[in-house]
Amino acid sequence: MTYFAAEFIFTMANTGEAVLVIGACGQLGSELTLELRNMYGGANVVAADISAPKQAALQESGPFEKIDVLDTQNLRELASKYKFTQIYHLAAVLSATGEKNPKFAWRLNMDGLFNVLDMALEQKVNKVYWPSSIAVFGPNTPRHNTPQLTVMDPNTVYGISKQAGERWCEYYFLKYGLDVRSLRYPGLIGYKALPGGGTTDYAVDIYHKALEQKAYECFLGENTYLPMMYMPDALKATIGLMHAPAEQIKVRDSYNLSAISFSPKEIAASIQKHIPDFKITYNPDYRQQIASSWPQTIDDSAARQDWGWQPNYDLDAMTEDMLANLKKIKAEAIVR
Ligand code: SER
Repeated sequence: MTYFAAEFIFTMANTGEAVLVIGACGQLGSELTLELRNMYGGANVVAADISAPKQAALQESGPFEKIDVLDTQNLRELASKYKFTQIYHLAAVLSATGEKNPKFAWRLNMDGLFNVLDMALEQKVNKVYWPSSIAVFGPNTPRHNTPQLTVMDPNTVYGISKQAGERWCEYYFLKYGLDVRSLRYPGLIGYKALPGGGTTDYAVDIYHKALEQKAYECFLGENTYLPMMYMPDALKATIGLMHAPAEQIKVRDSYNLSAISFSPKEIAASIQKHIPDFKITYNPDYRQQIASSWPQTIDDSAARQDWGWQPNYDLDAMTEDMLANLKKIKAEAIVR
C-alpha cells in the first residue's frame, strides 16, 4: 500500500538521494526514519514495514510502503519505483523472540538480508546499512572490553544469524564492491518506541514501570552487566558511519560500538535519584542465560579511530532525559 505516492515520487526525482528504511516501524526504525527525513526531506525517505505505523509522525512526514522483506518481487517493484540510493535494512527477529521460533528467525534474518543485498546490487544502490549486535558474541568470548576481532560462538539463533550476516556483508563488499556498512549495537534505550523481543528490553521497560507503578520486576539478575546505549547516540553512530567517506570504513563486517555498561541494580539506583521510593525485584527467566553469554563491556576503539565515533550519554544523563520525556508523553496521553 502506498500513501502520498505520486507527489513523493515526483519530489524524489528532483533530489540527489532516495532512501529506503526497511523495518521503519521498529524501535530504531521509527526514530531513524524521522532523523533521515530531517536530513534529506520527508519525501526522499521511504518508510517501509510489514505492519502499518502506529506513530502518526511516520505516516505524516513522508511516504510509507507496506512490504515483506521475504517477498523479492515486492522489493524489486519498490526499488524500480523509487530508484533508491541508500537502504537501511533494519527488519529482524531479536534474541528473545527468536528463541521461540528459531527456524522462522533464521529465515527472516538471513533471507531478508540476502534479498536486500541482491536487490541493492541489481539496482546499483550506492550504500546499504545493516545492523549487527553484541549477540554475535558468545560464552567463550572475552567478556570485558571485548575486542573487535575475537572468539565468536553465539548460541542464540539471533546471534548466529547476525554473525553469518556480518560475514555475508563483508563478502558482498569484497566480491561485488557493494558499500555495506554495519554496527554491532548494544541494547538500545529510547522513549519514543518500545523494543520488540530483545534481552536488553528490560532497560526500557524499567523506566515506564518506574513512572507508572514505582516498581519493576526484572527478568535478569541484579548484577547482570550488559552494554547499552541511549537512542540519540545510536542515531548519531548510524548516521556518522553512513556519512563517513568510504575509504575510512576499514571494518566491513561490523564495528564494535560502545557507550554505557550497567546492571539492573545500577539502573534502578539511577532511577531512585529521581524517584526515591522506586523498588526493583528480580525474577530471572530464560533471558538470563542469553544475557550471561554476552559481553559486559565492549572495546570500540576501531570505530573511534576510523570514523570518529564518540558517545554523549552516560547512565545518569540518559535516566534524566528518559524520565523527563516519558513523563511528558504519559501526561499528554492522559489529557487526550
Ligand atoms: N537488543 C538486542 C537483543 O536484546 C541485542 O542486539 O536482542
